[in-house]
Amino acid sequence: MKLPEGLAGVVISETKISSTKDAILTYAGYPINELKDAPFEEVVYLLWHKKLPTESQLKEVRHQLVDEMKLPDETIRLMKYVALEPQHPMSILRTTVSLLGTTHNDVRRDQPLKILSKMLTAIAAIIRLRDNQELMKVNPQWGVVENFMYLFTGKRPTPSQVSMFNTVMVLHADHEFNASTFTGRVVASTQADYYSCLTAAVCALKGPLHGGANEQVFKMLEEIRHTGQKPIDYVNKRIAAGKKIMGFGHRIYKDGDPRAKILRGIAEQIADETNNSVYFNLQEQIRDYMFEKTHLHPNVDYYTALIYHCLGLDKSTFTTMFAACRTAGWLAHIMEQQSDGCLIRPSSEYVGPTGRHYPGHEKENQKK
Ligand code: COA
Repeated sequence: MKLPEGLAGVVISETKISSTKDAILTYAGYPINELKDAPFEEVVYLLWHKKLPTESQLKEVRHQLVDEMKLPDETIRLMKYVALEPQHPMSILRTTVSLLGTTHNDVRRDQPLKILSKMLTAIAAIIRLRDNQELMKVNPQWGVVENFMYLFTGKRPTPSQVSMFNTVMVLHADHEFNASTFTGRVVASTQADYYSCLTAAVCALKGPLHGGANEQVFKMLEEIRHTGQKPIDYVNKRIAAGKKIMGFGHRIYKDGDPRAKILRGIAEQIADETNNSVYFNLQEQIRDYMFEKTHLHPNVDYYTALIYHCLGLDKSTFTTMFAACRTAGWLAHIMEQQSDGCLIRPSSEYVGPTGRHYPGHEKENQKK
């Protein structure tokens, strides 16, 4: 029997959180196209409770999330030490999530809401600290997205920037059993604590075949721009060398990623507003040629790379943004796995040598 490579198409368990059935992404049954302008806090509530909040519930969840965004002084002290190490921001995030789970005594009682808030603030702090910038303070009058943007950029975003980034956060909030979520669920299936599950999920997100692709996309755009080569030549050379073009292809979506279609419009607009259309134009040329040559479509990471660049972020921090948005979904899956799931422990097909004997045990085994 041929085993499905990389578990492609294998249904591991049931979920009520999100679905990509028929290539339509839905959160608890609501299509992403209809949710893209819903407040991020509302989507968090939906993923965690499988129903939309009432107005007062939404107000309460927003208040609690913002209220919990302050980091303990001890965490900041340790983060200053860790974040200044010359490591990739995703490595710093991995250590930071672990730190969040060890800097106070009652981690086992920490609730998802508090953890999500702390994750957002910690990610913004990683971005600020690595550039030796001061840490900003949360404004209790603003929503989660506005505060988060303020924390990592140091500037109050405009309403149009908040609305655009809200859509980015909503589109990234969950994606059924992707590699990092599955990793988090495996750890959750052992009944480990939230922070252990999230640390594992961050590790899986880091790789360039998953969340790390957004950084690679921007590296590609910079290389094409700075060397002055034609995008077509870049694509041809890379494919002839057996390499992938980052930001293209998807395990589930073979006819296009529904998130990328929405993000393309945002990328075009923000690139225009920030004098970065040169990158968007390169992206259009690469996209057209990739389709002609390989029939592959851009995925979620293709356009977010440009959006994050236009927000002033360094490319090495792009994947931490993905982690910030996906934490809502990771936590939903950890909760579901811990309450409904059993231990995830698959089997393997052994294909190595058999019948061997450790020196001195040959005769013993012959007697049997
Ligand atoms: N560039 C060039 N060729 C690609 C490609 C890409 N980005 N993505 C897939 N292909 C090709 C593969 O080389 C393979 O060709 P082959 O059949 O001739 O060997 C074929 O398309 C199938 O690819 P495969 O990697 O087996 O598909 P998958 O479903 O396992 O992988 C990804 C999906 C996402 C891992 C893959 O498309 C990829 O590596 N993309 C680039 C990284 C990326 O953007 N990741 C973010 C995902 S949201």
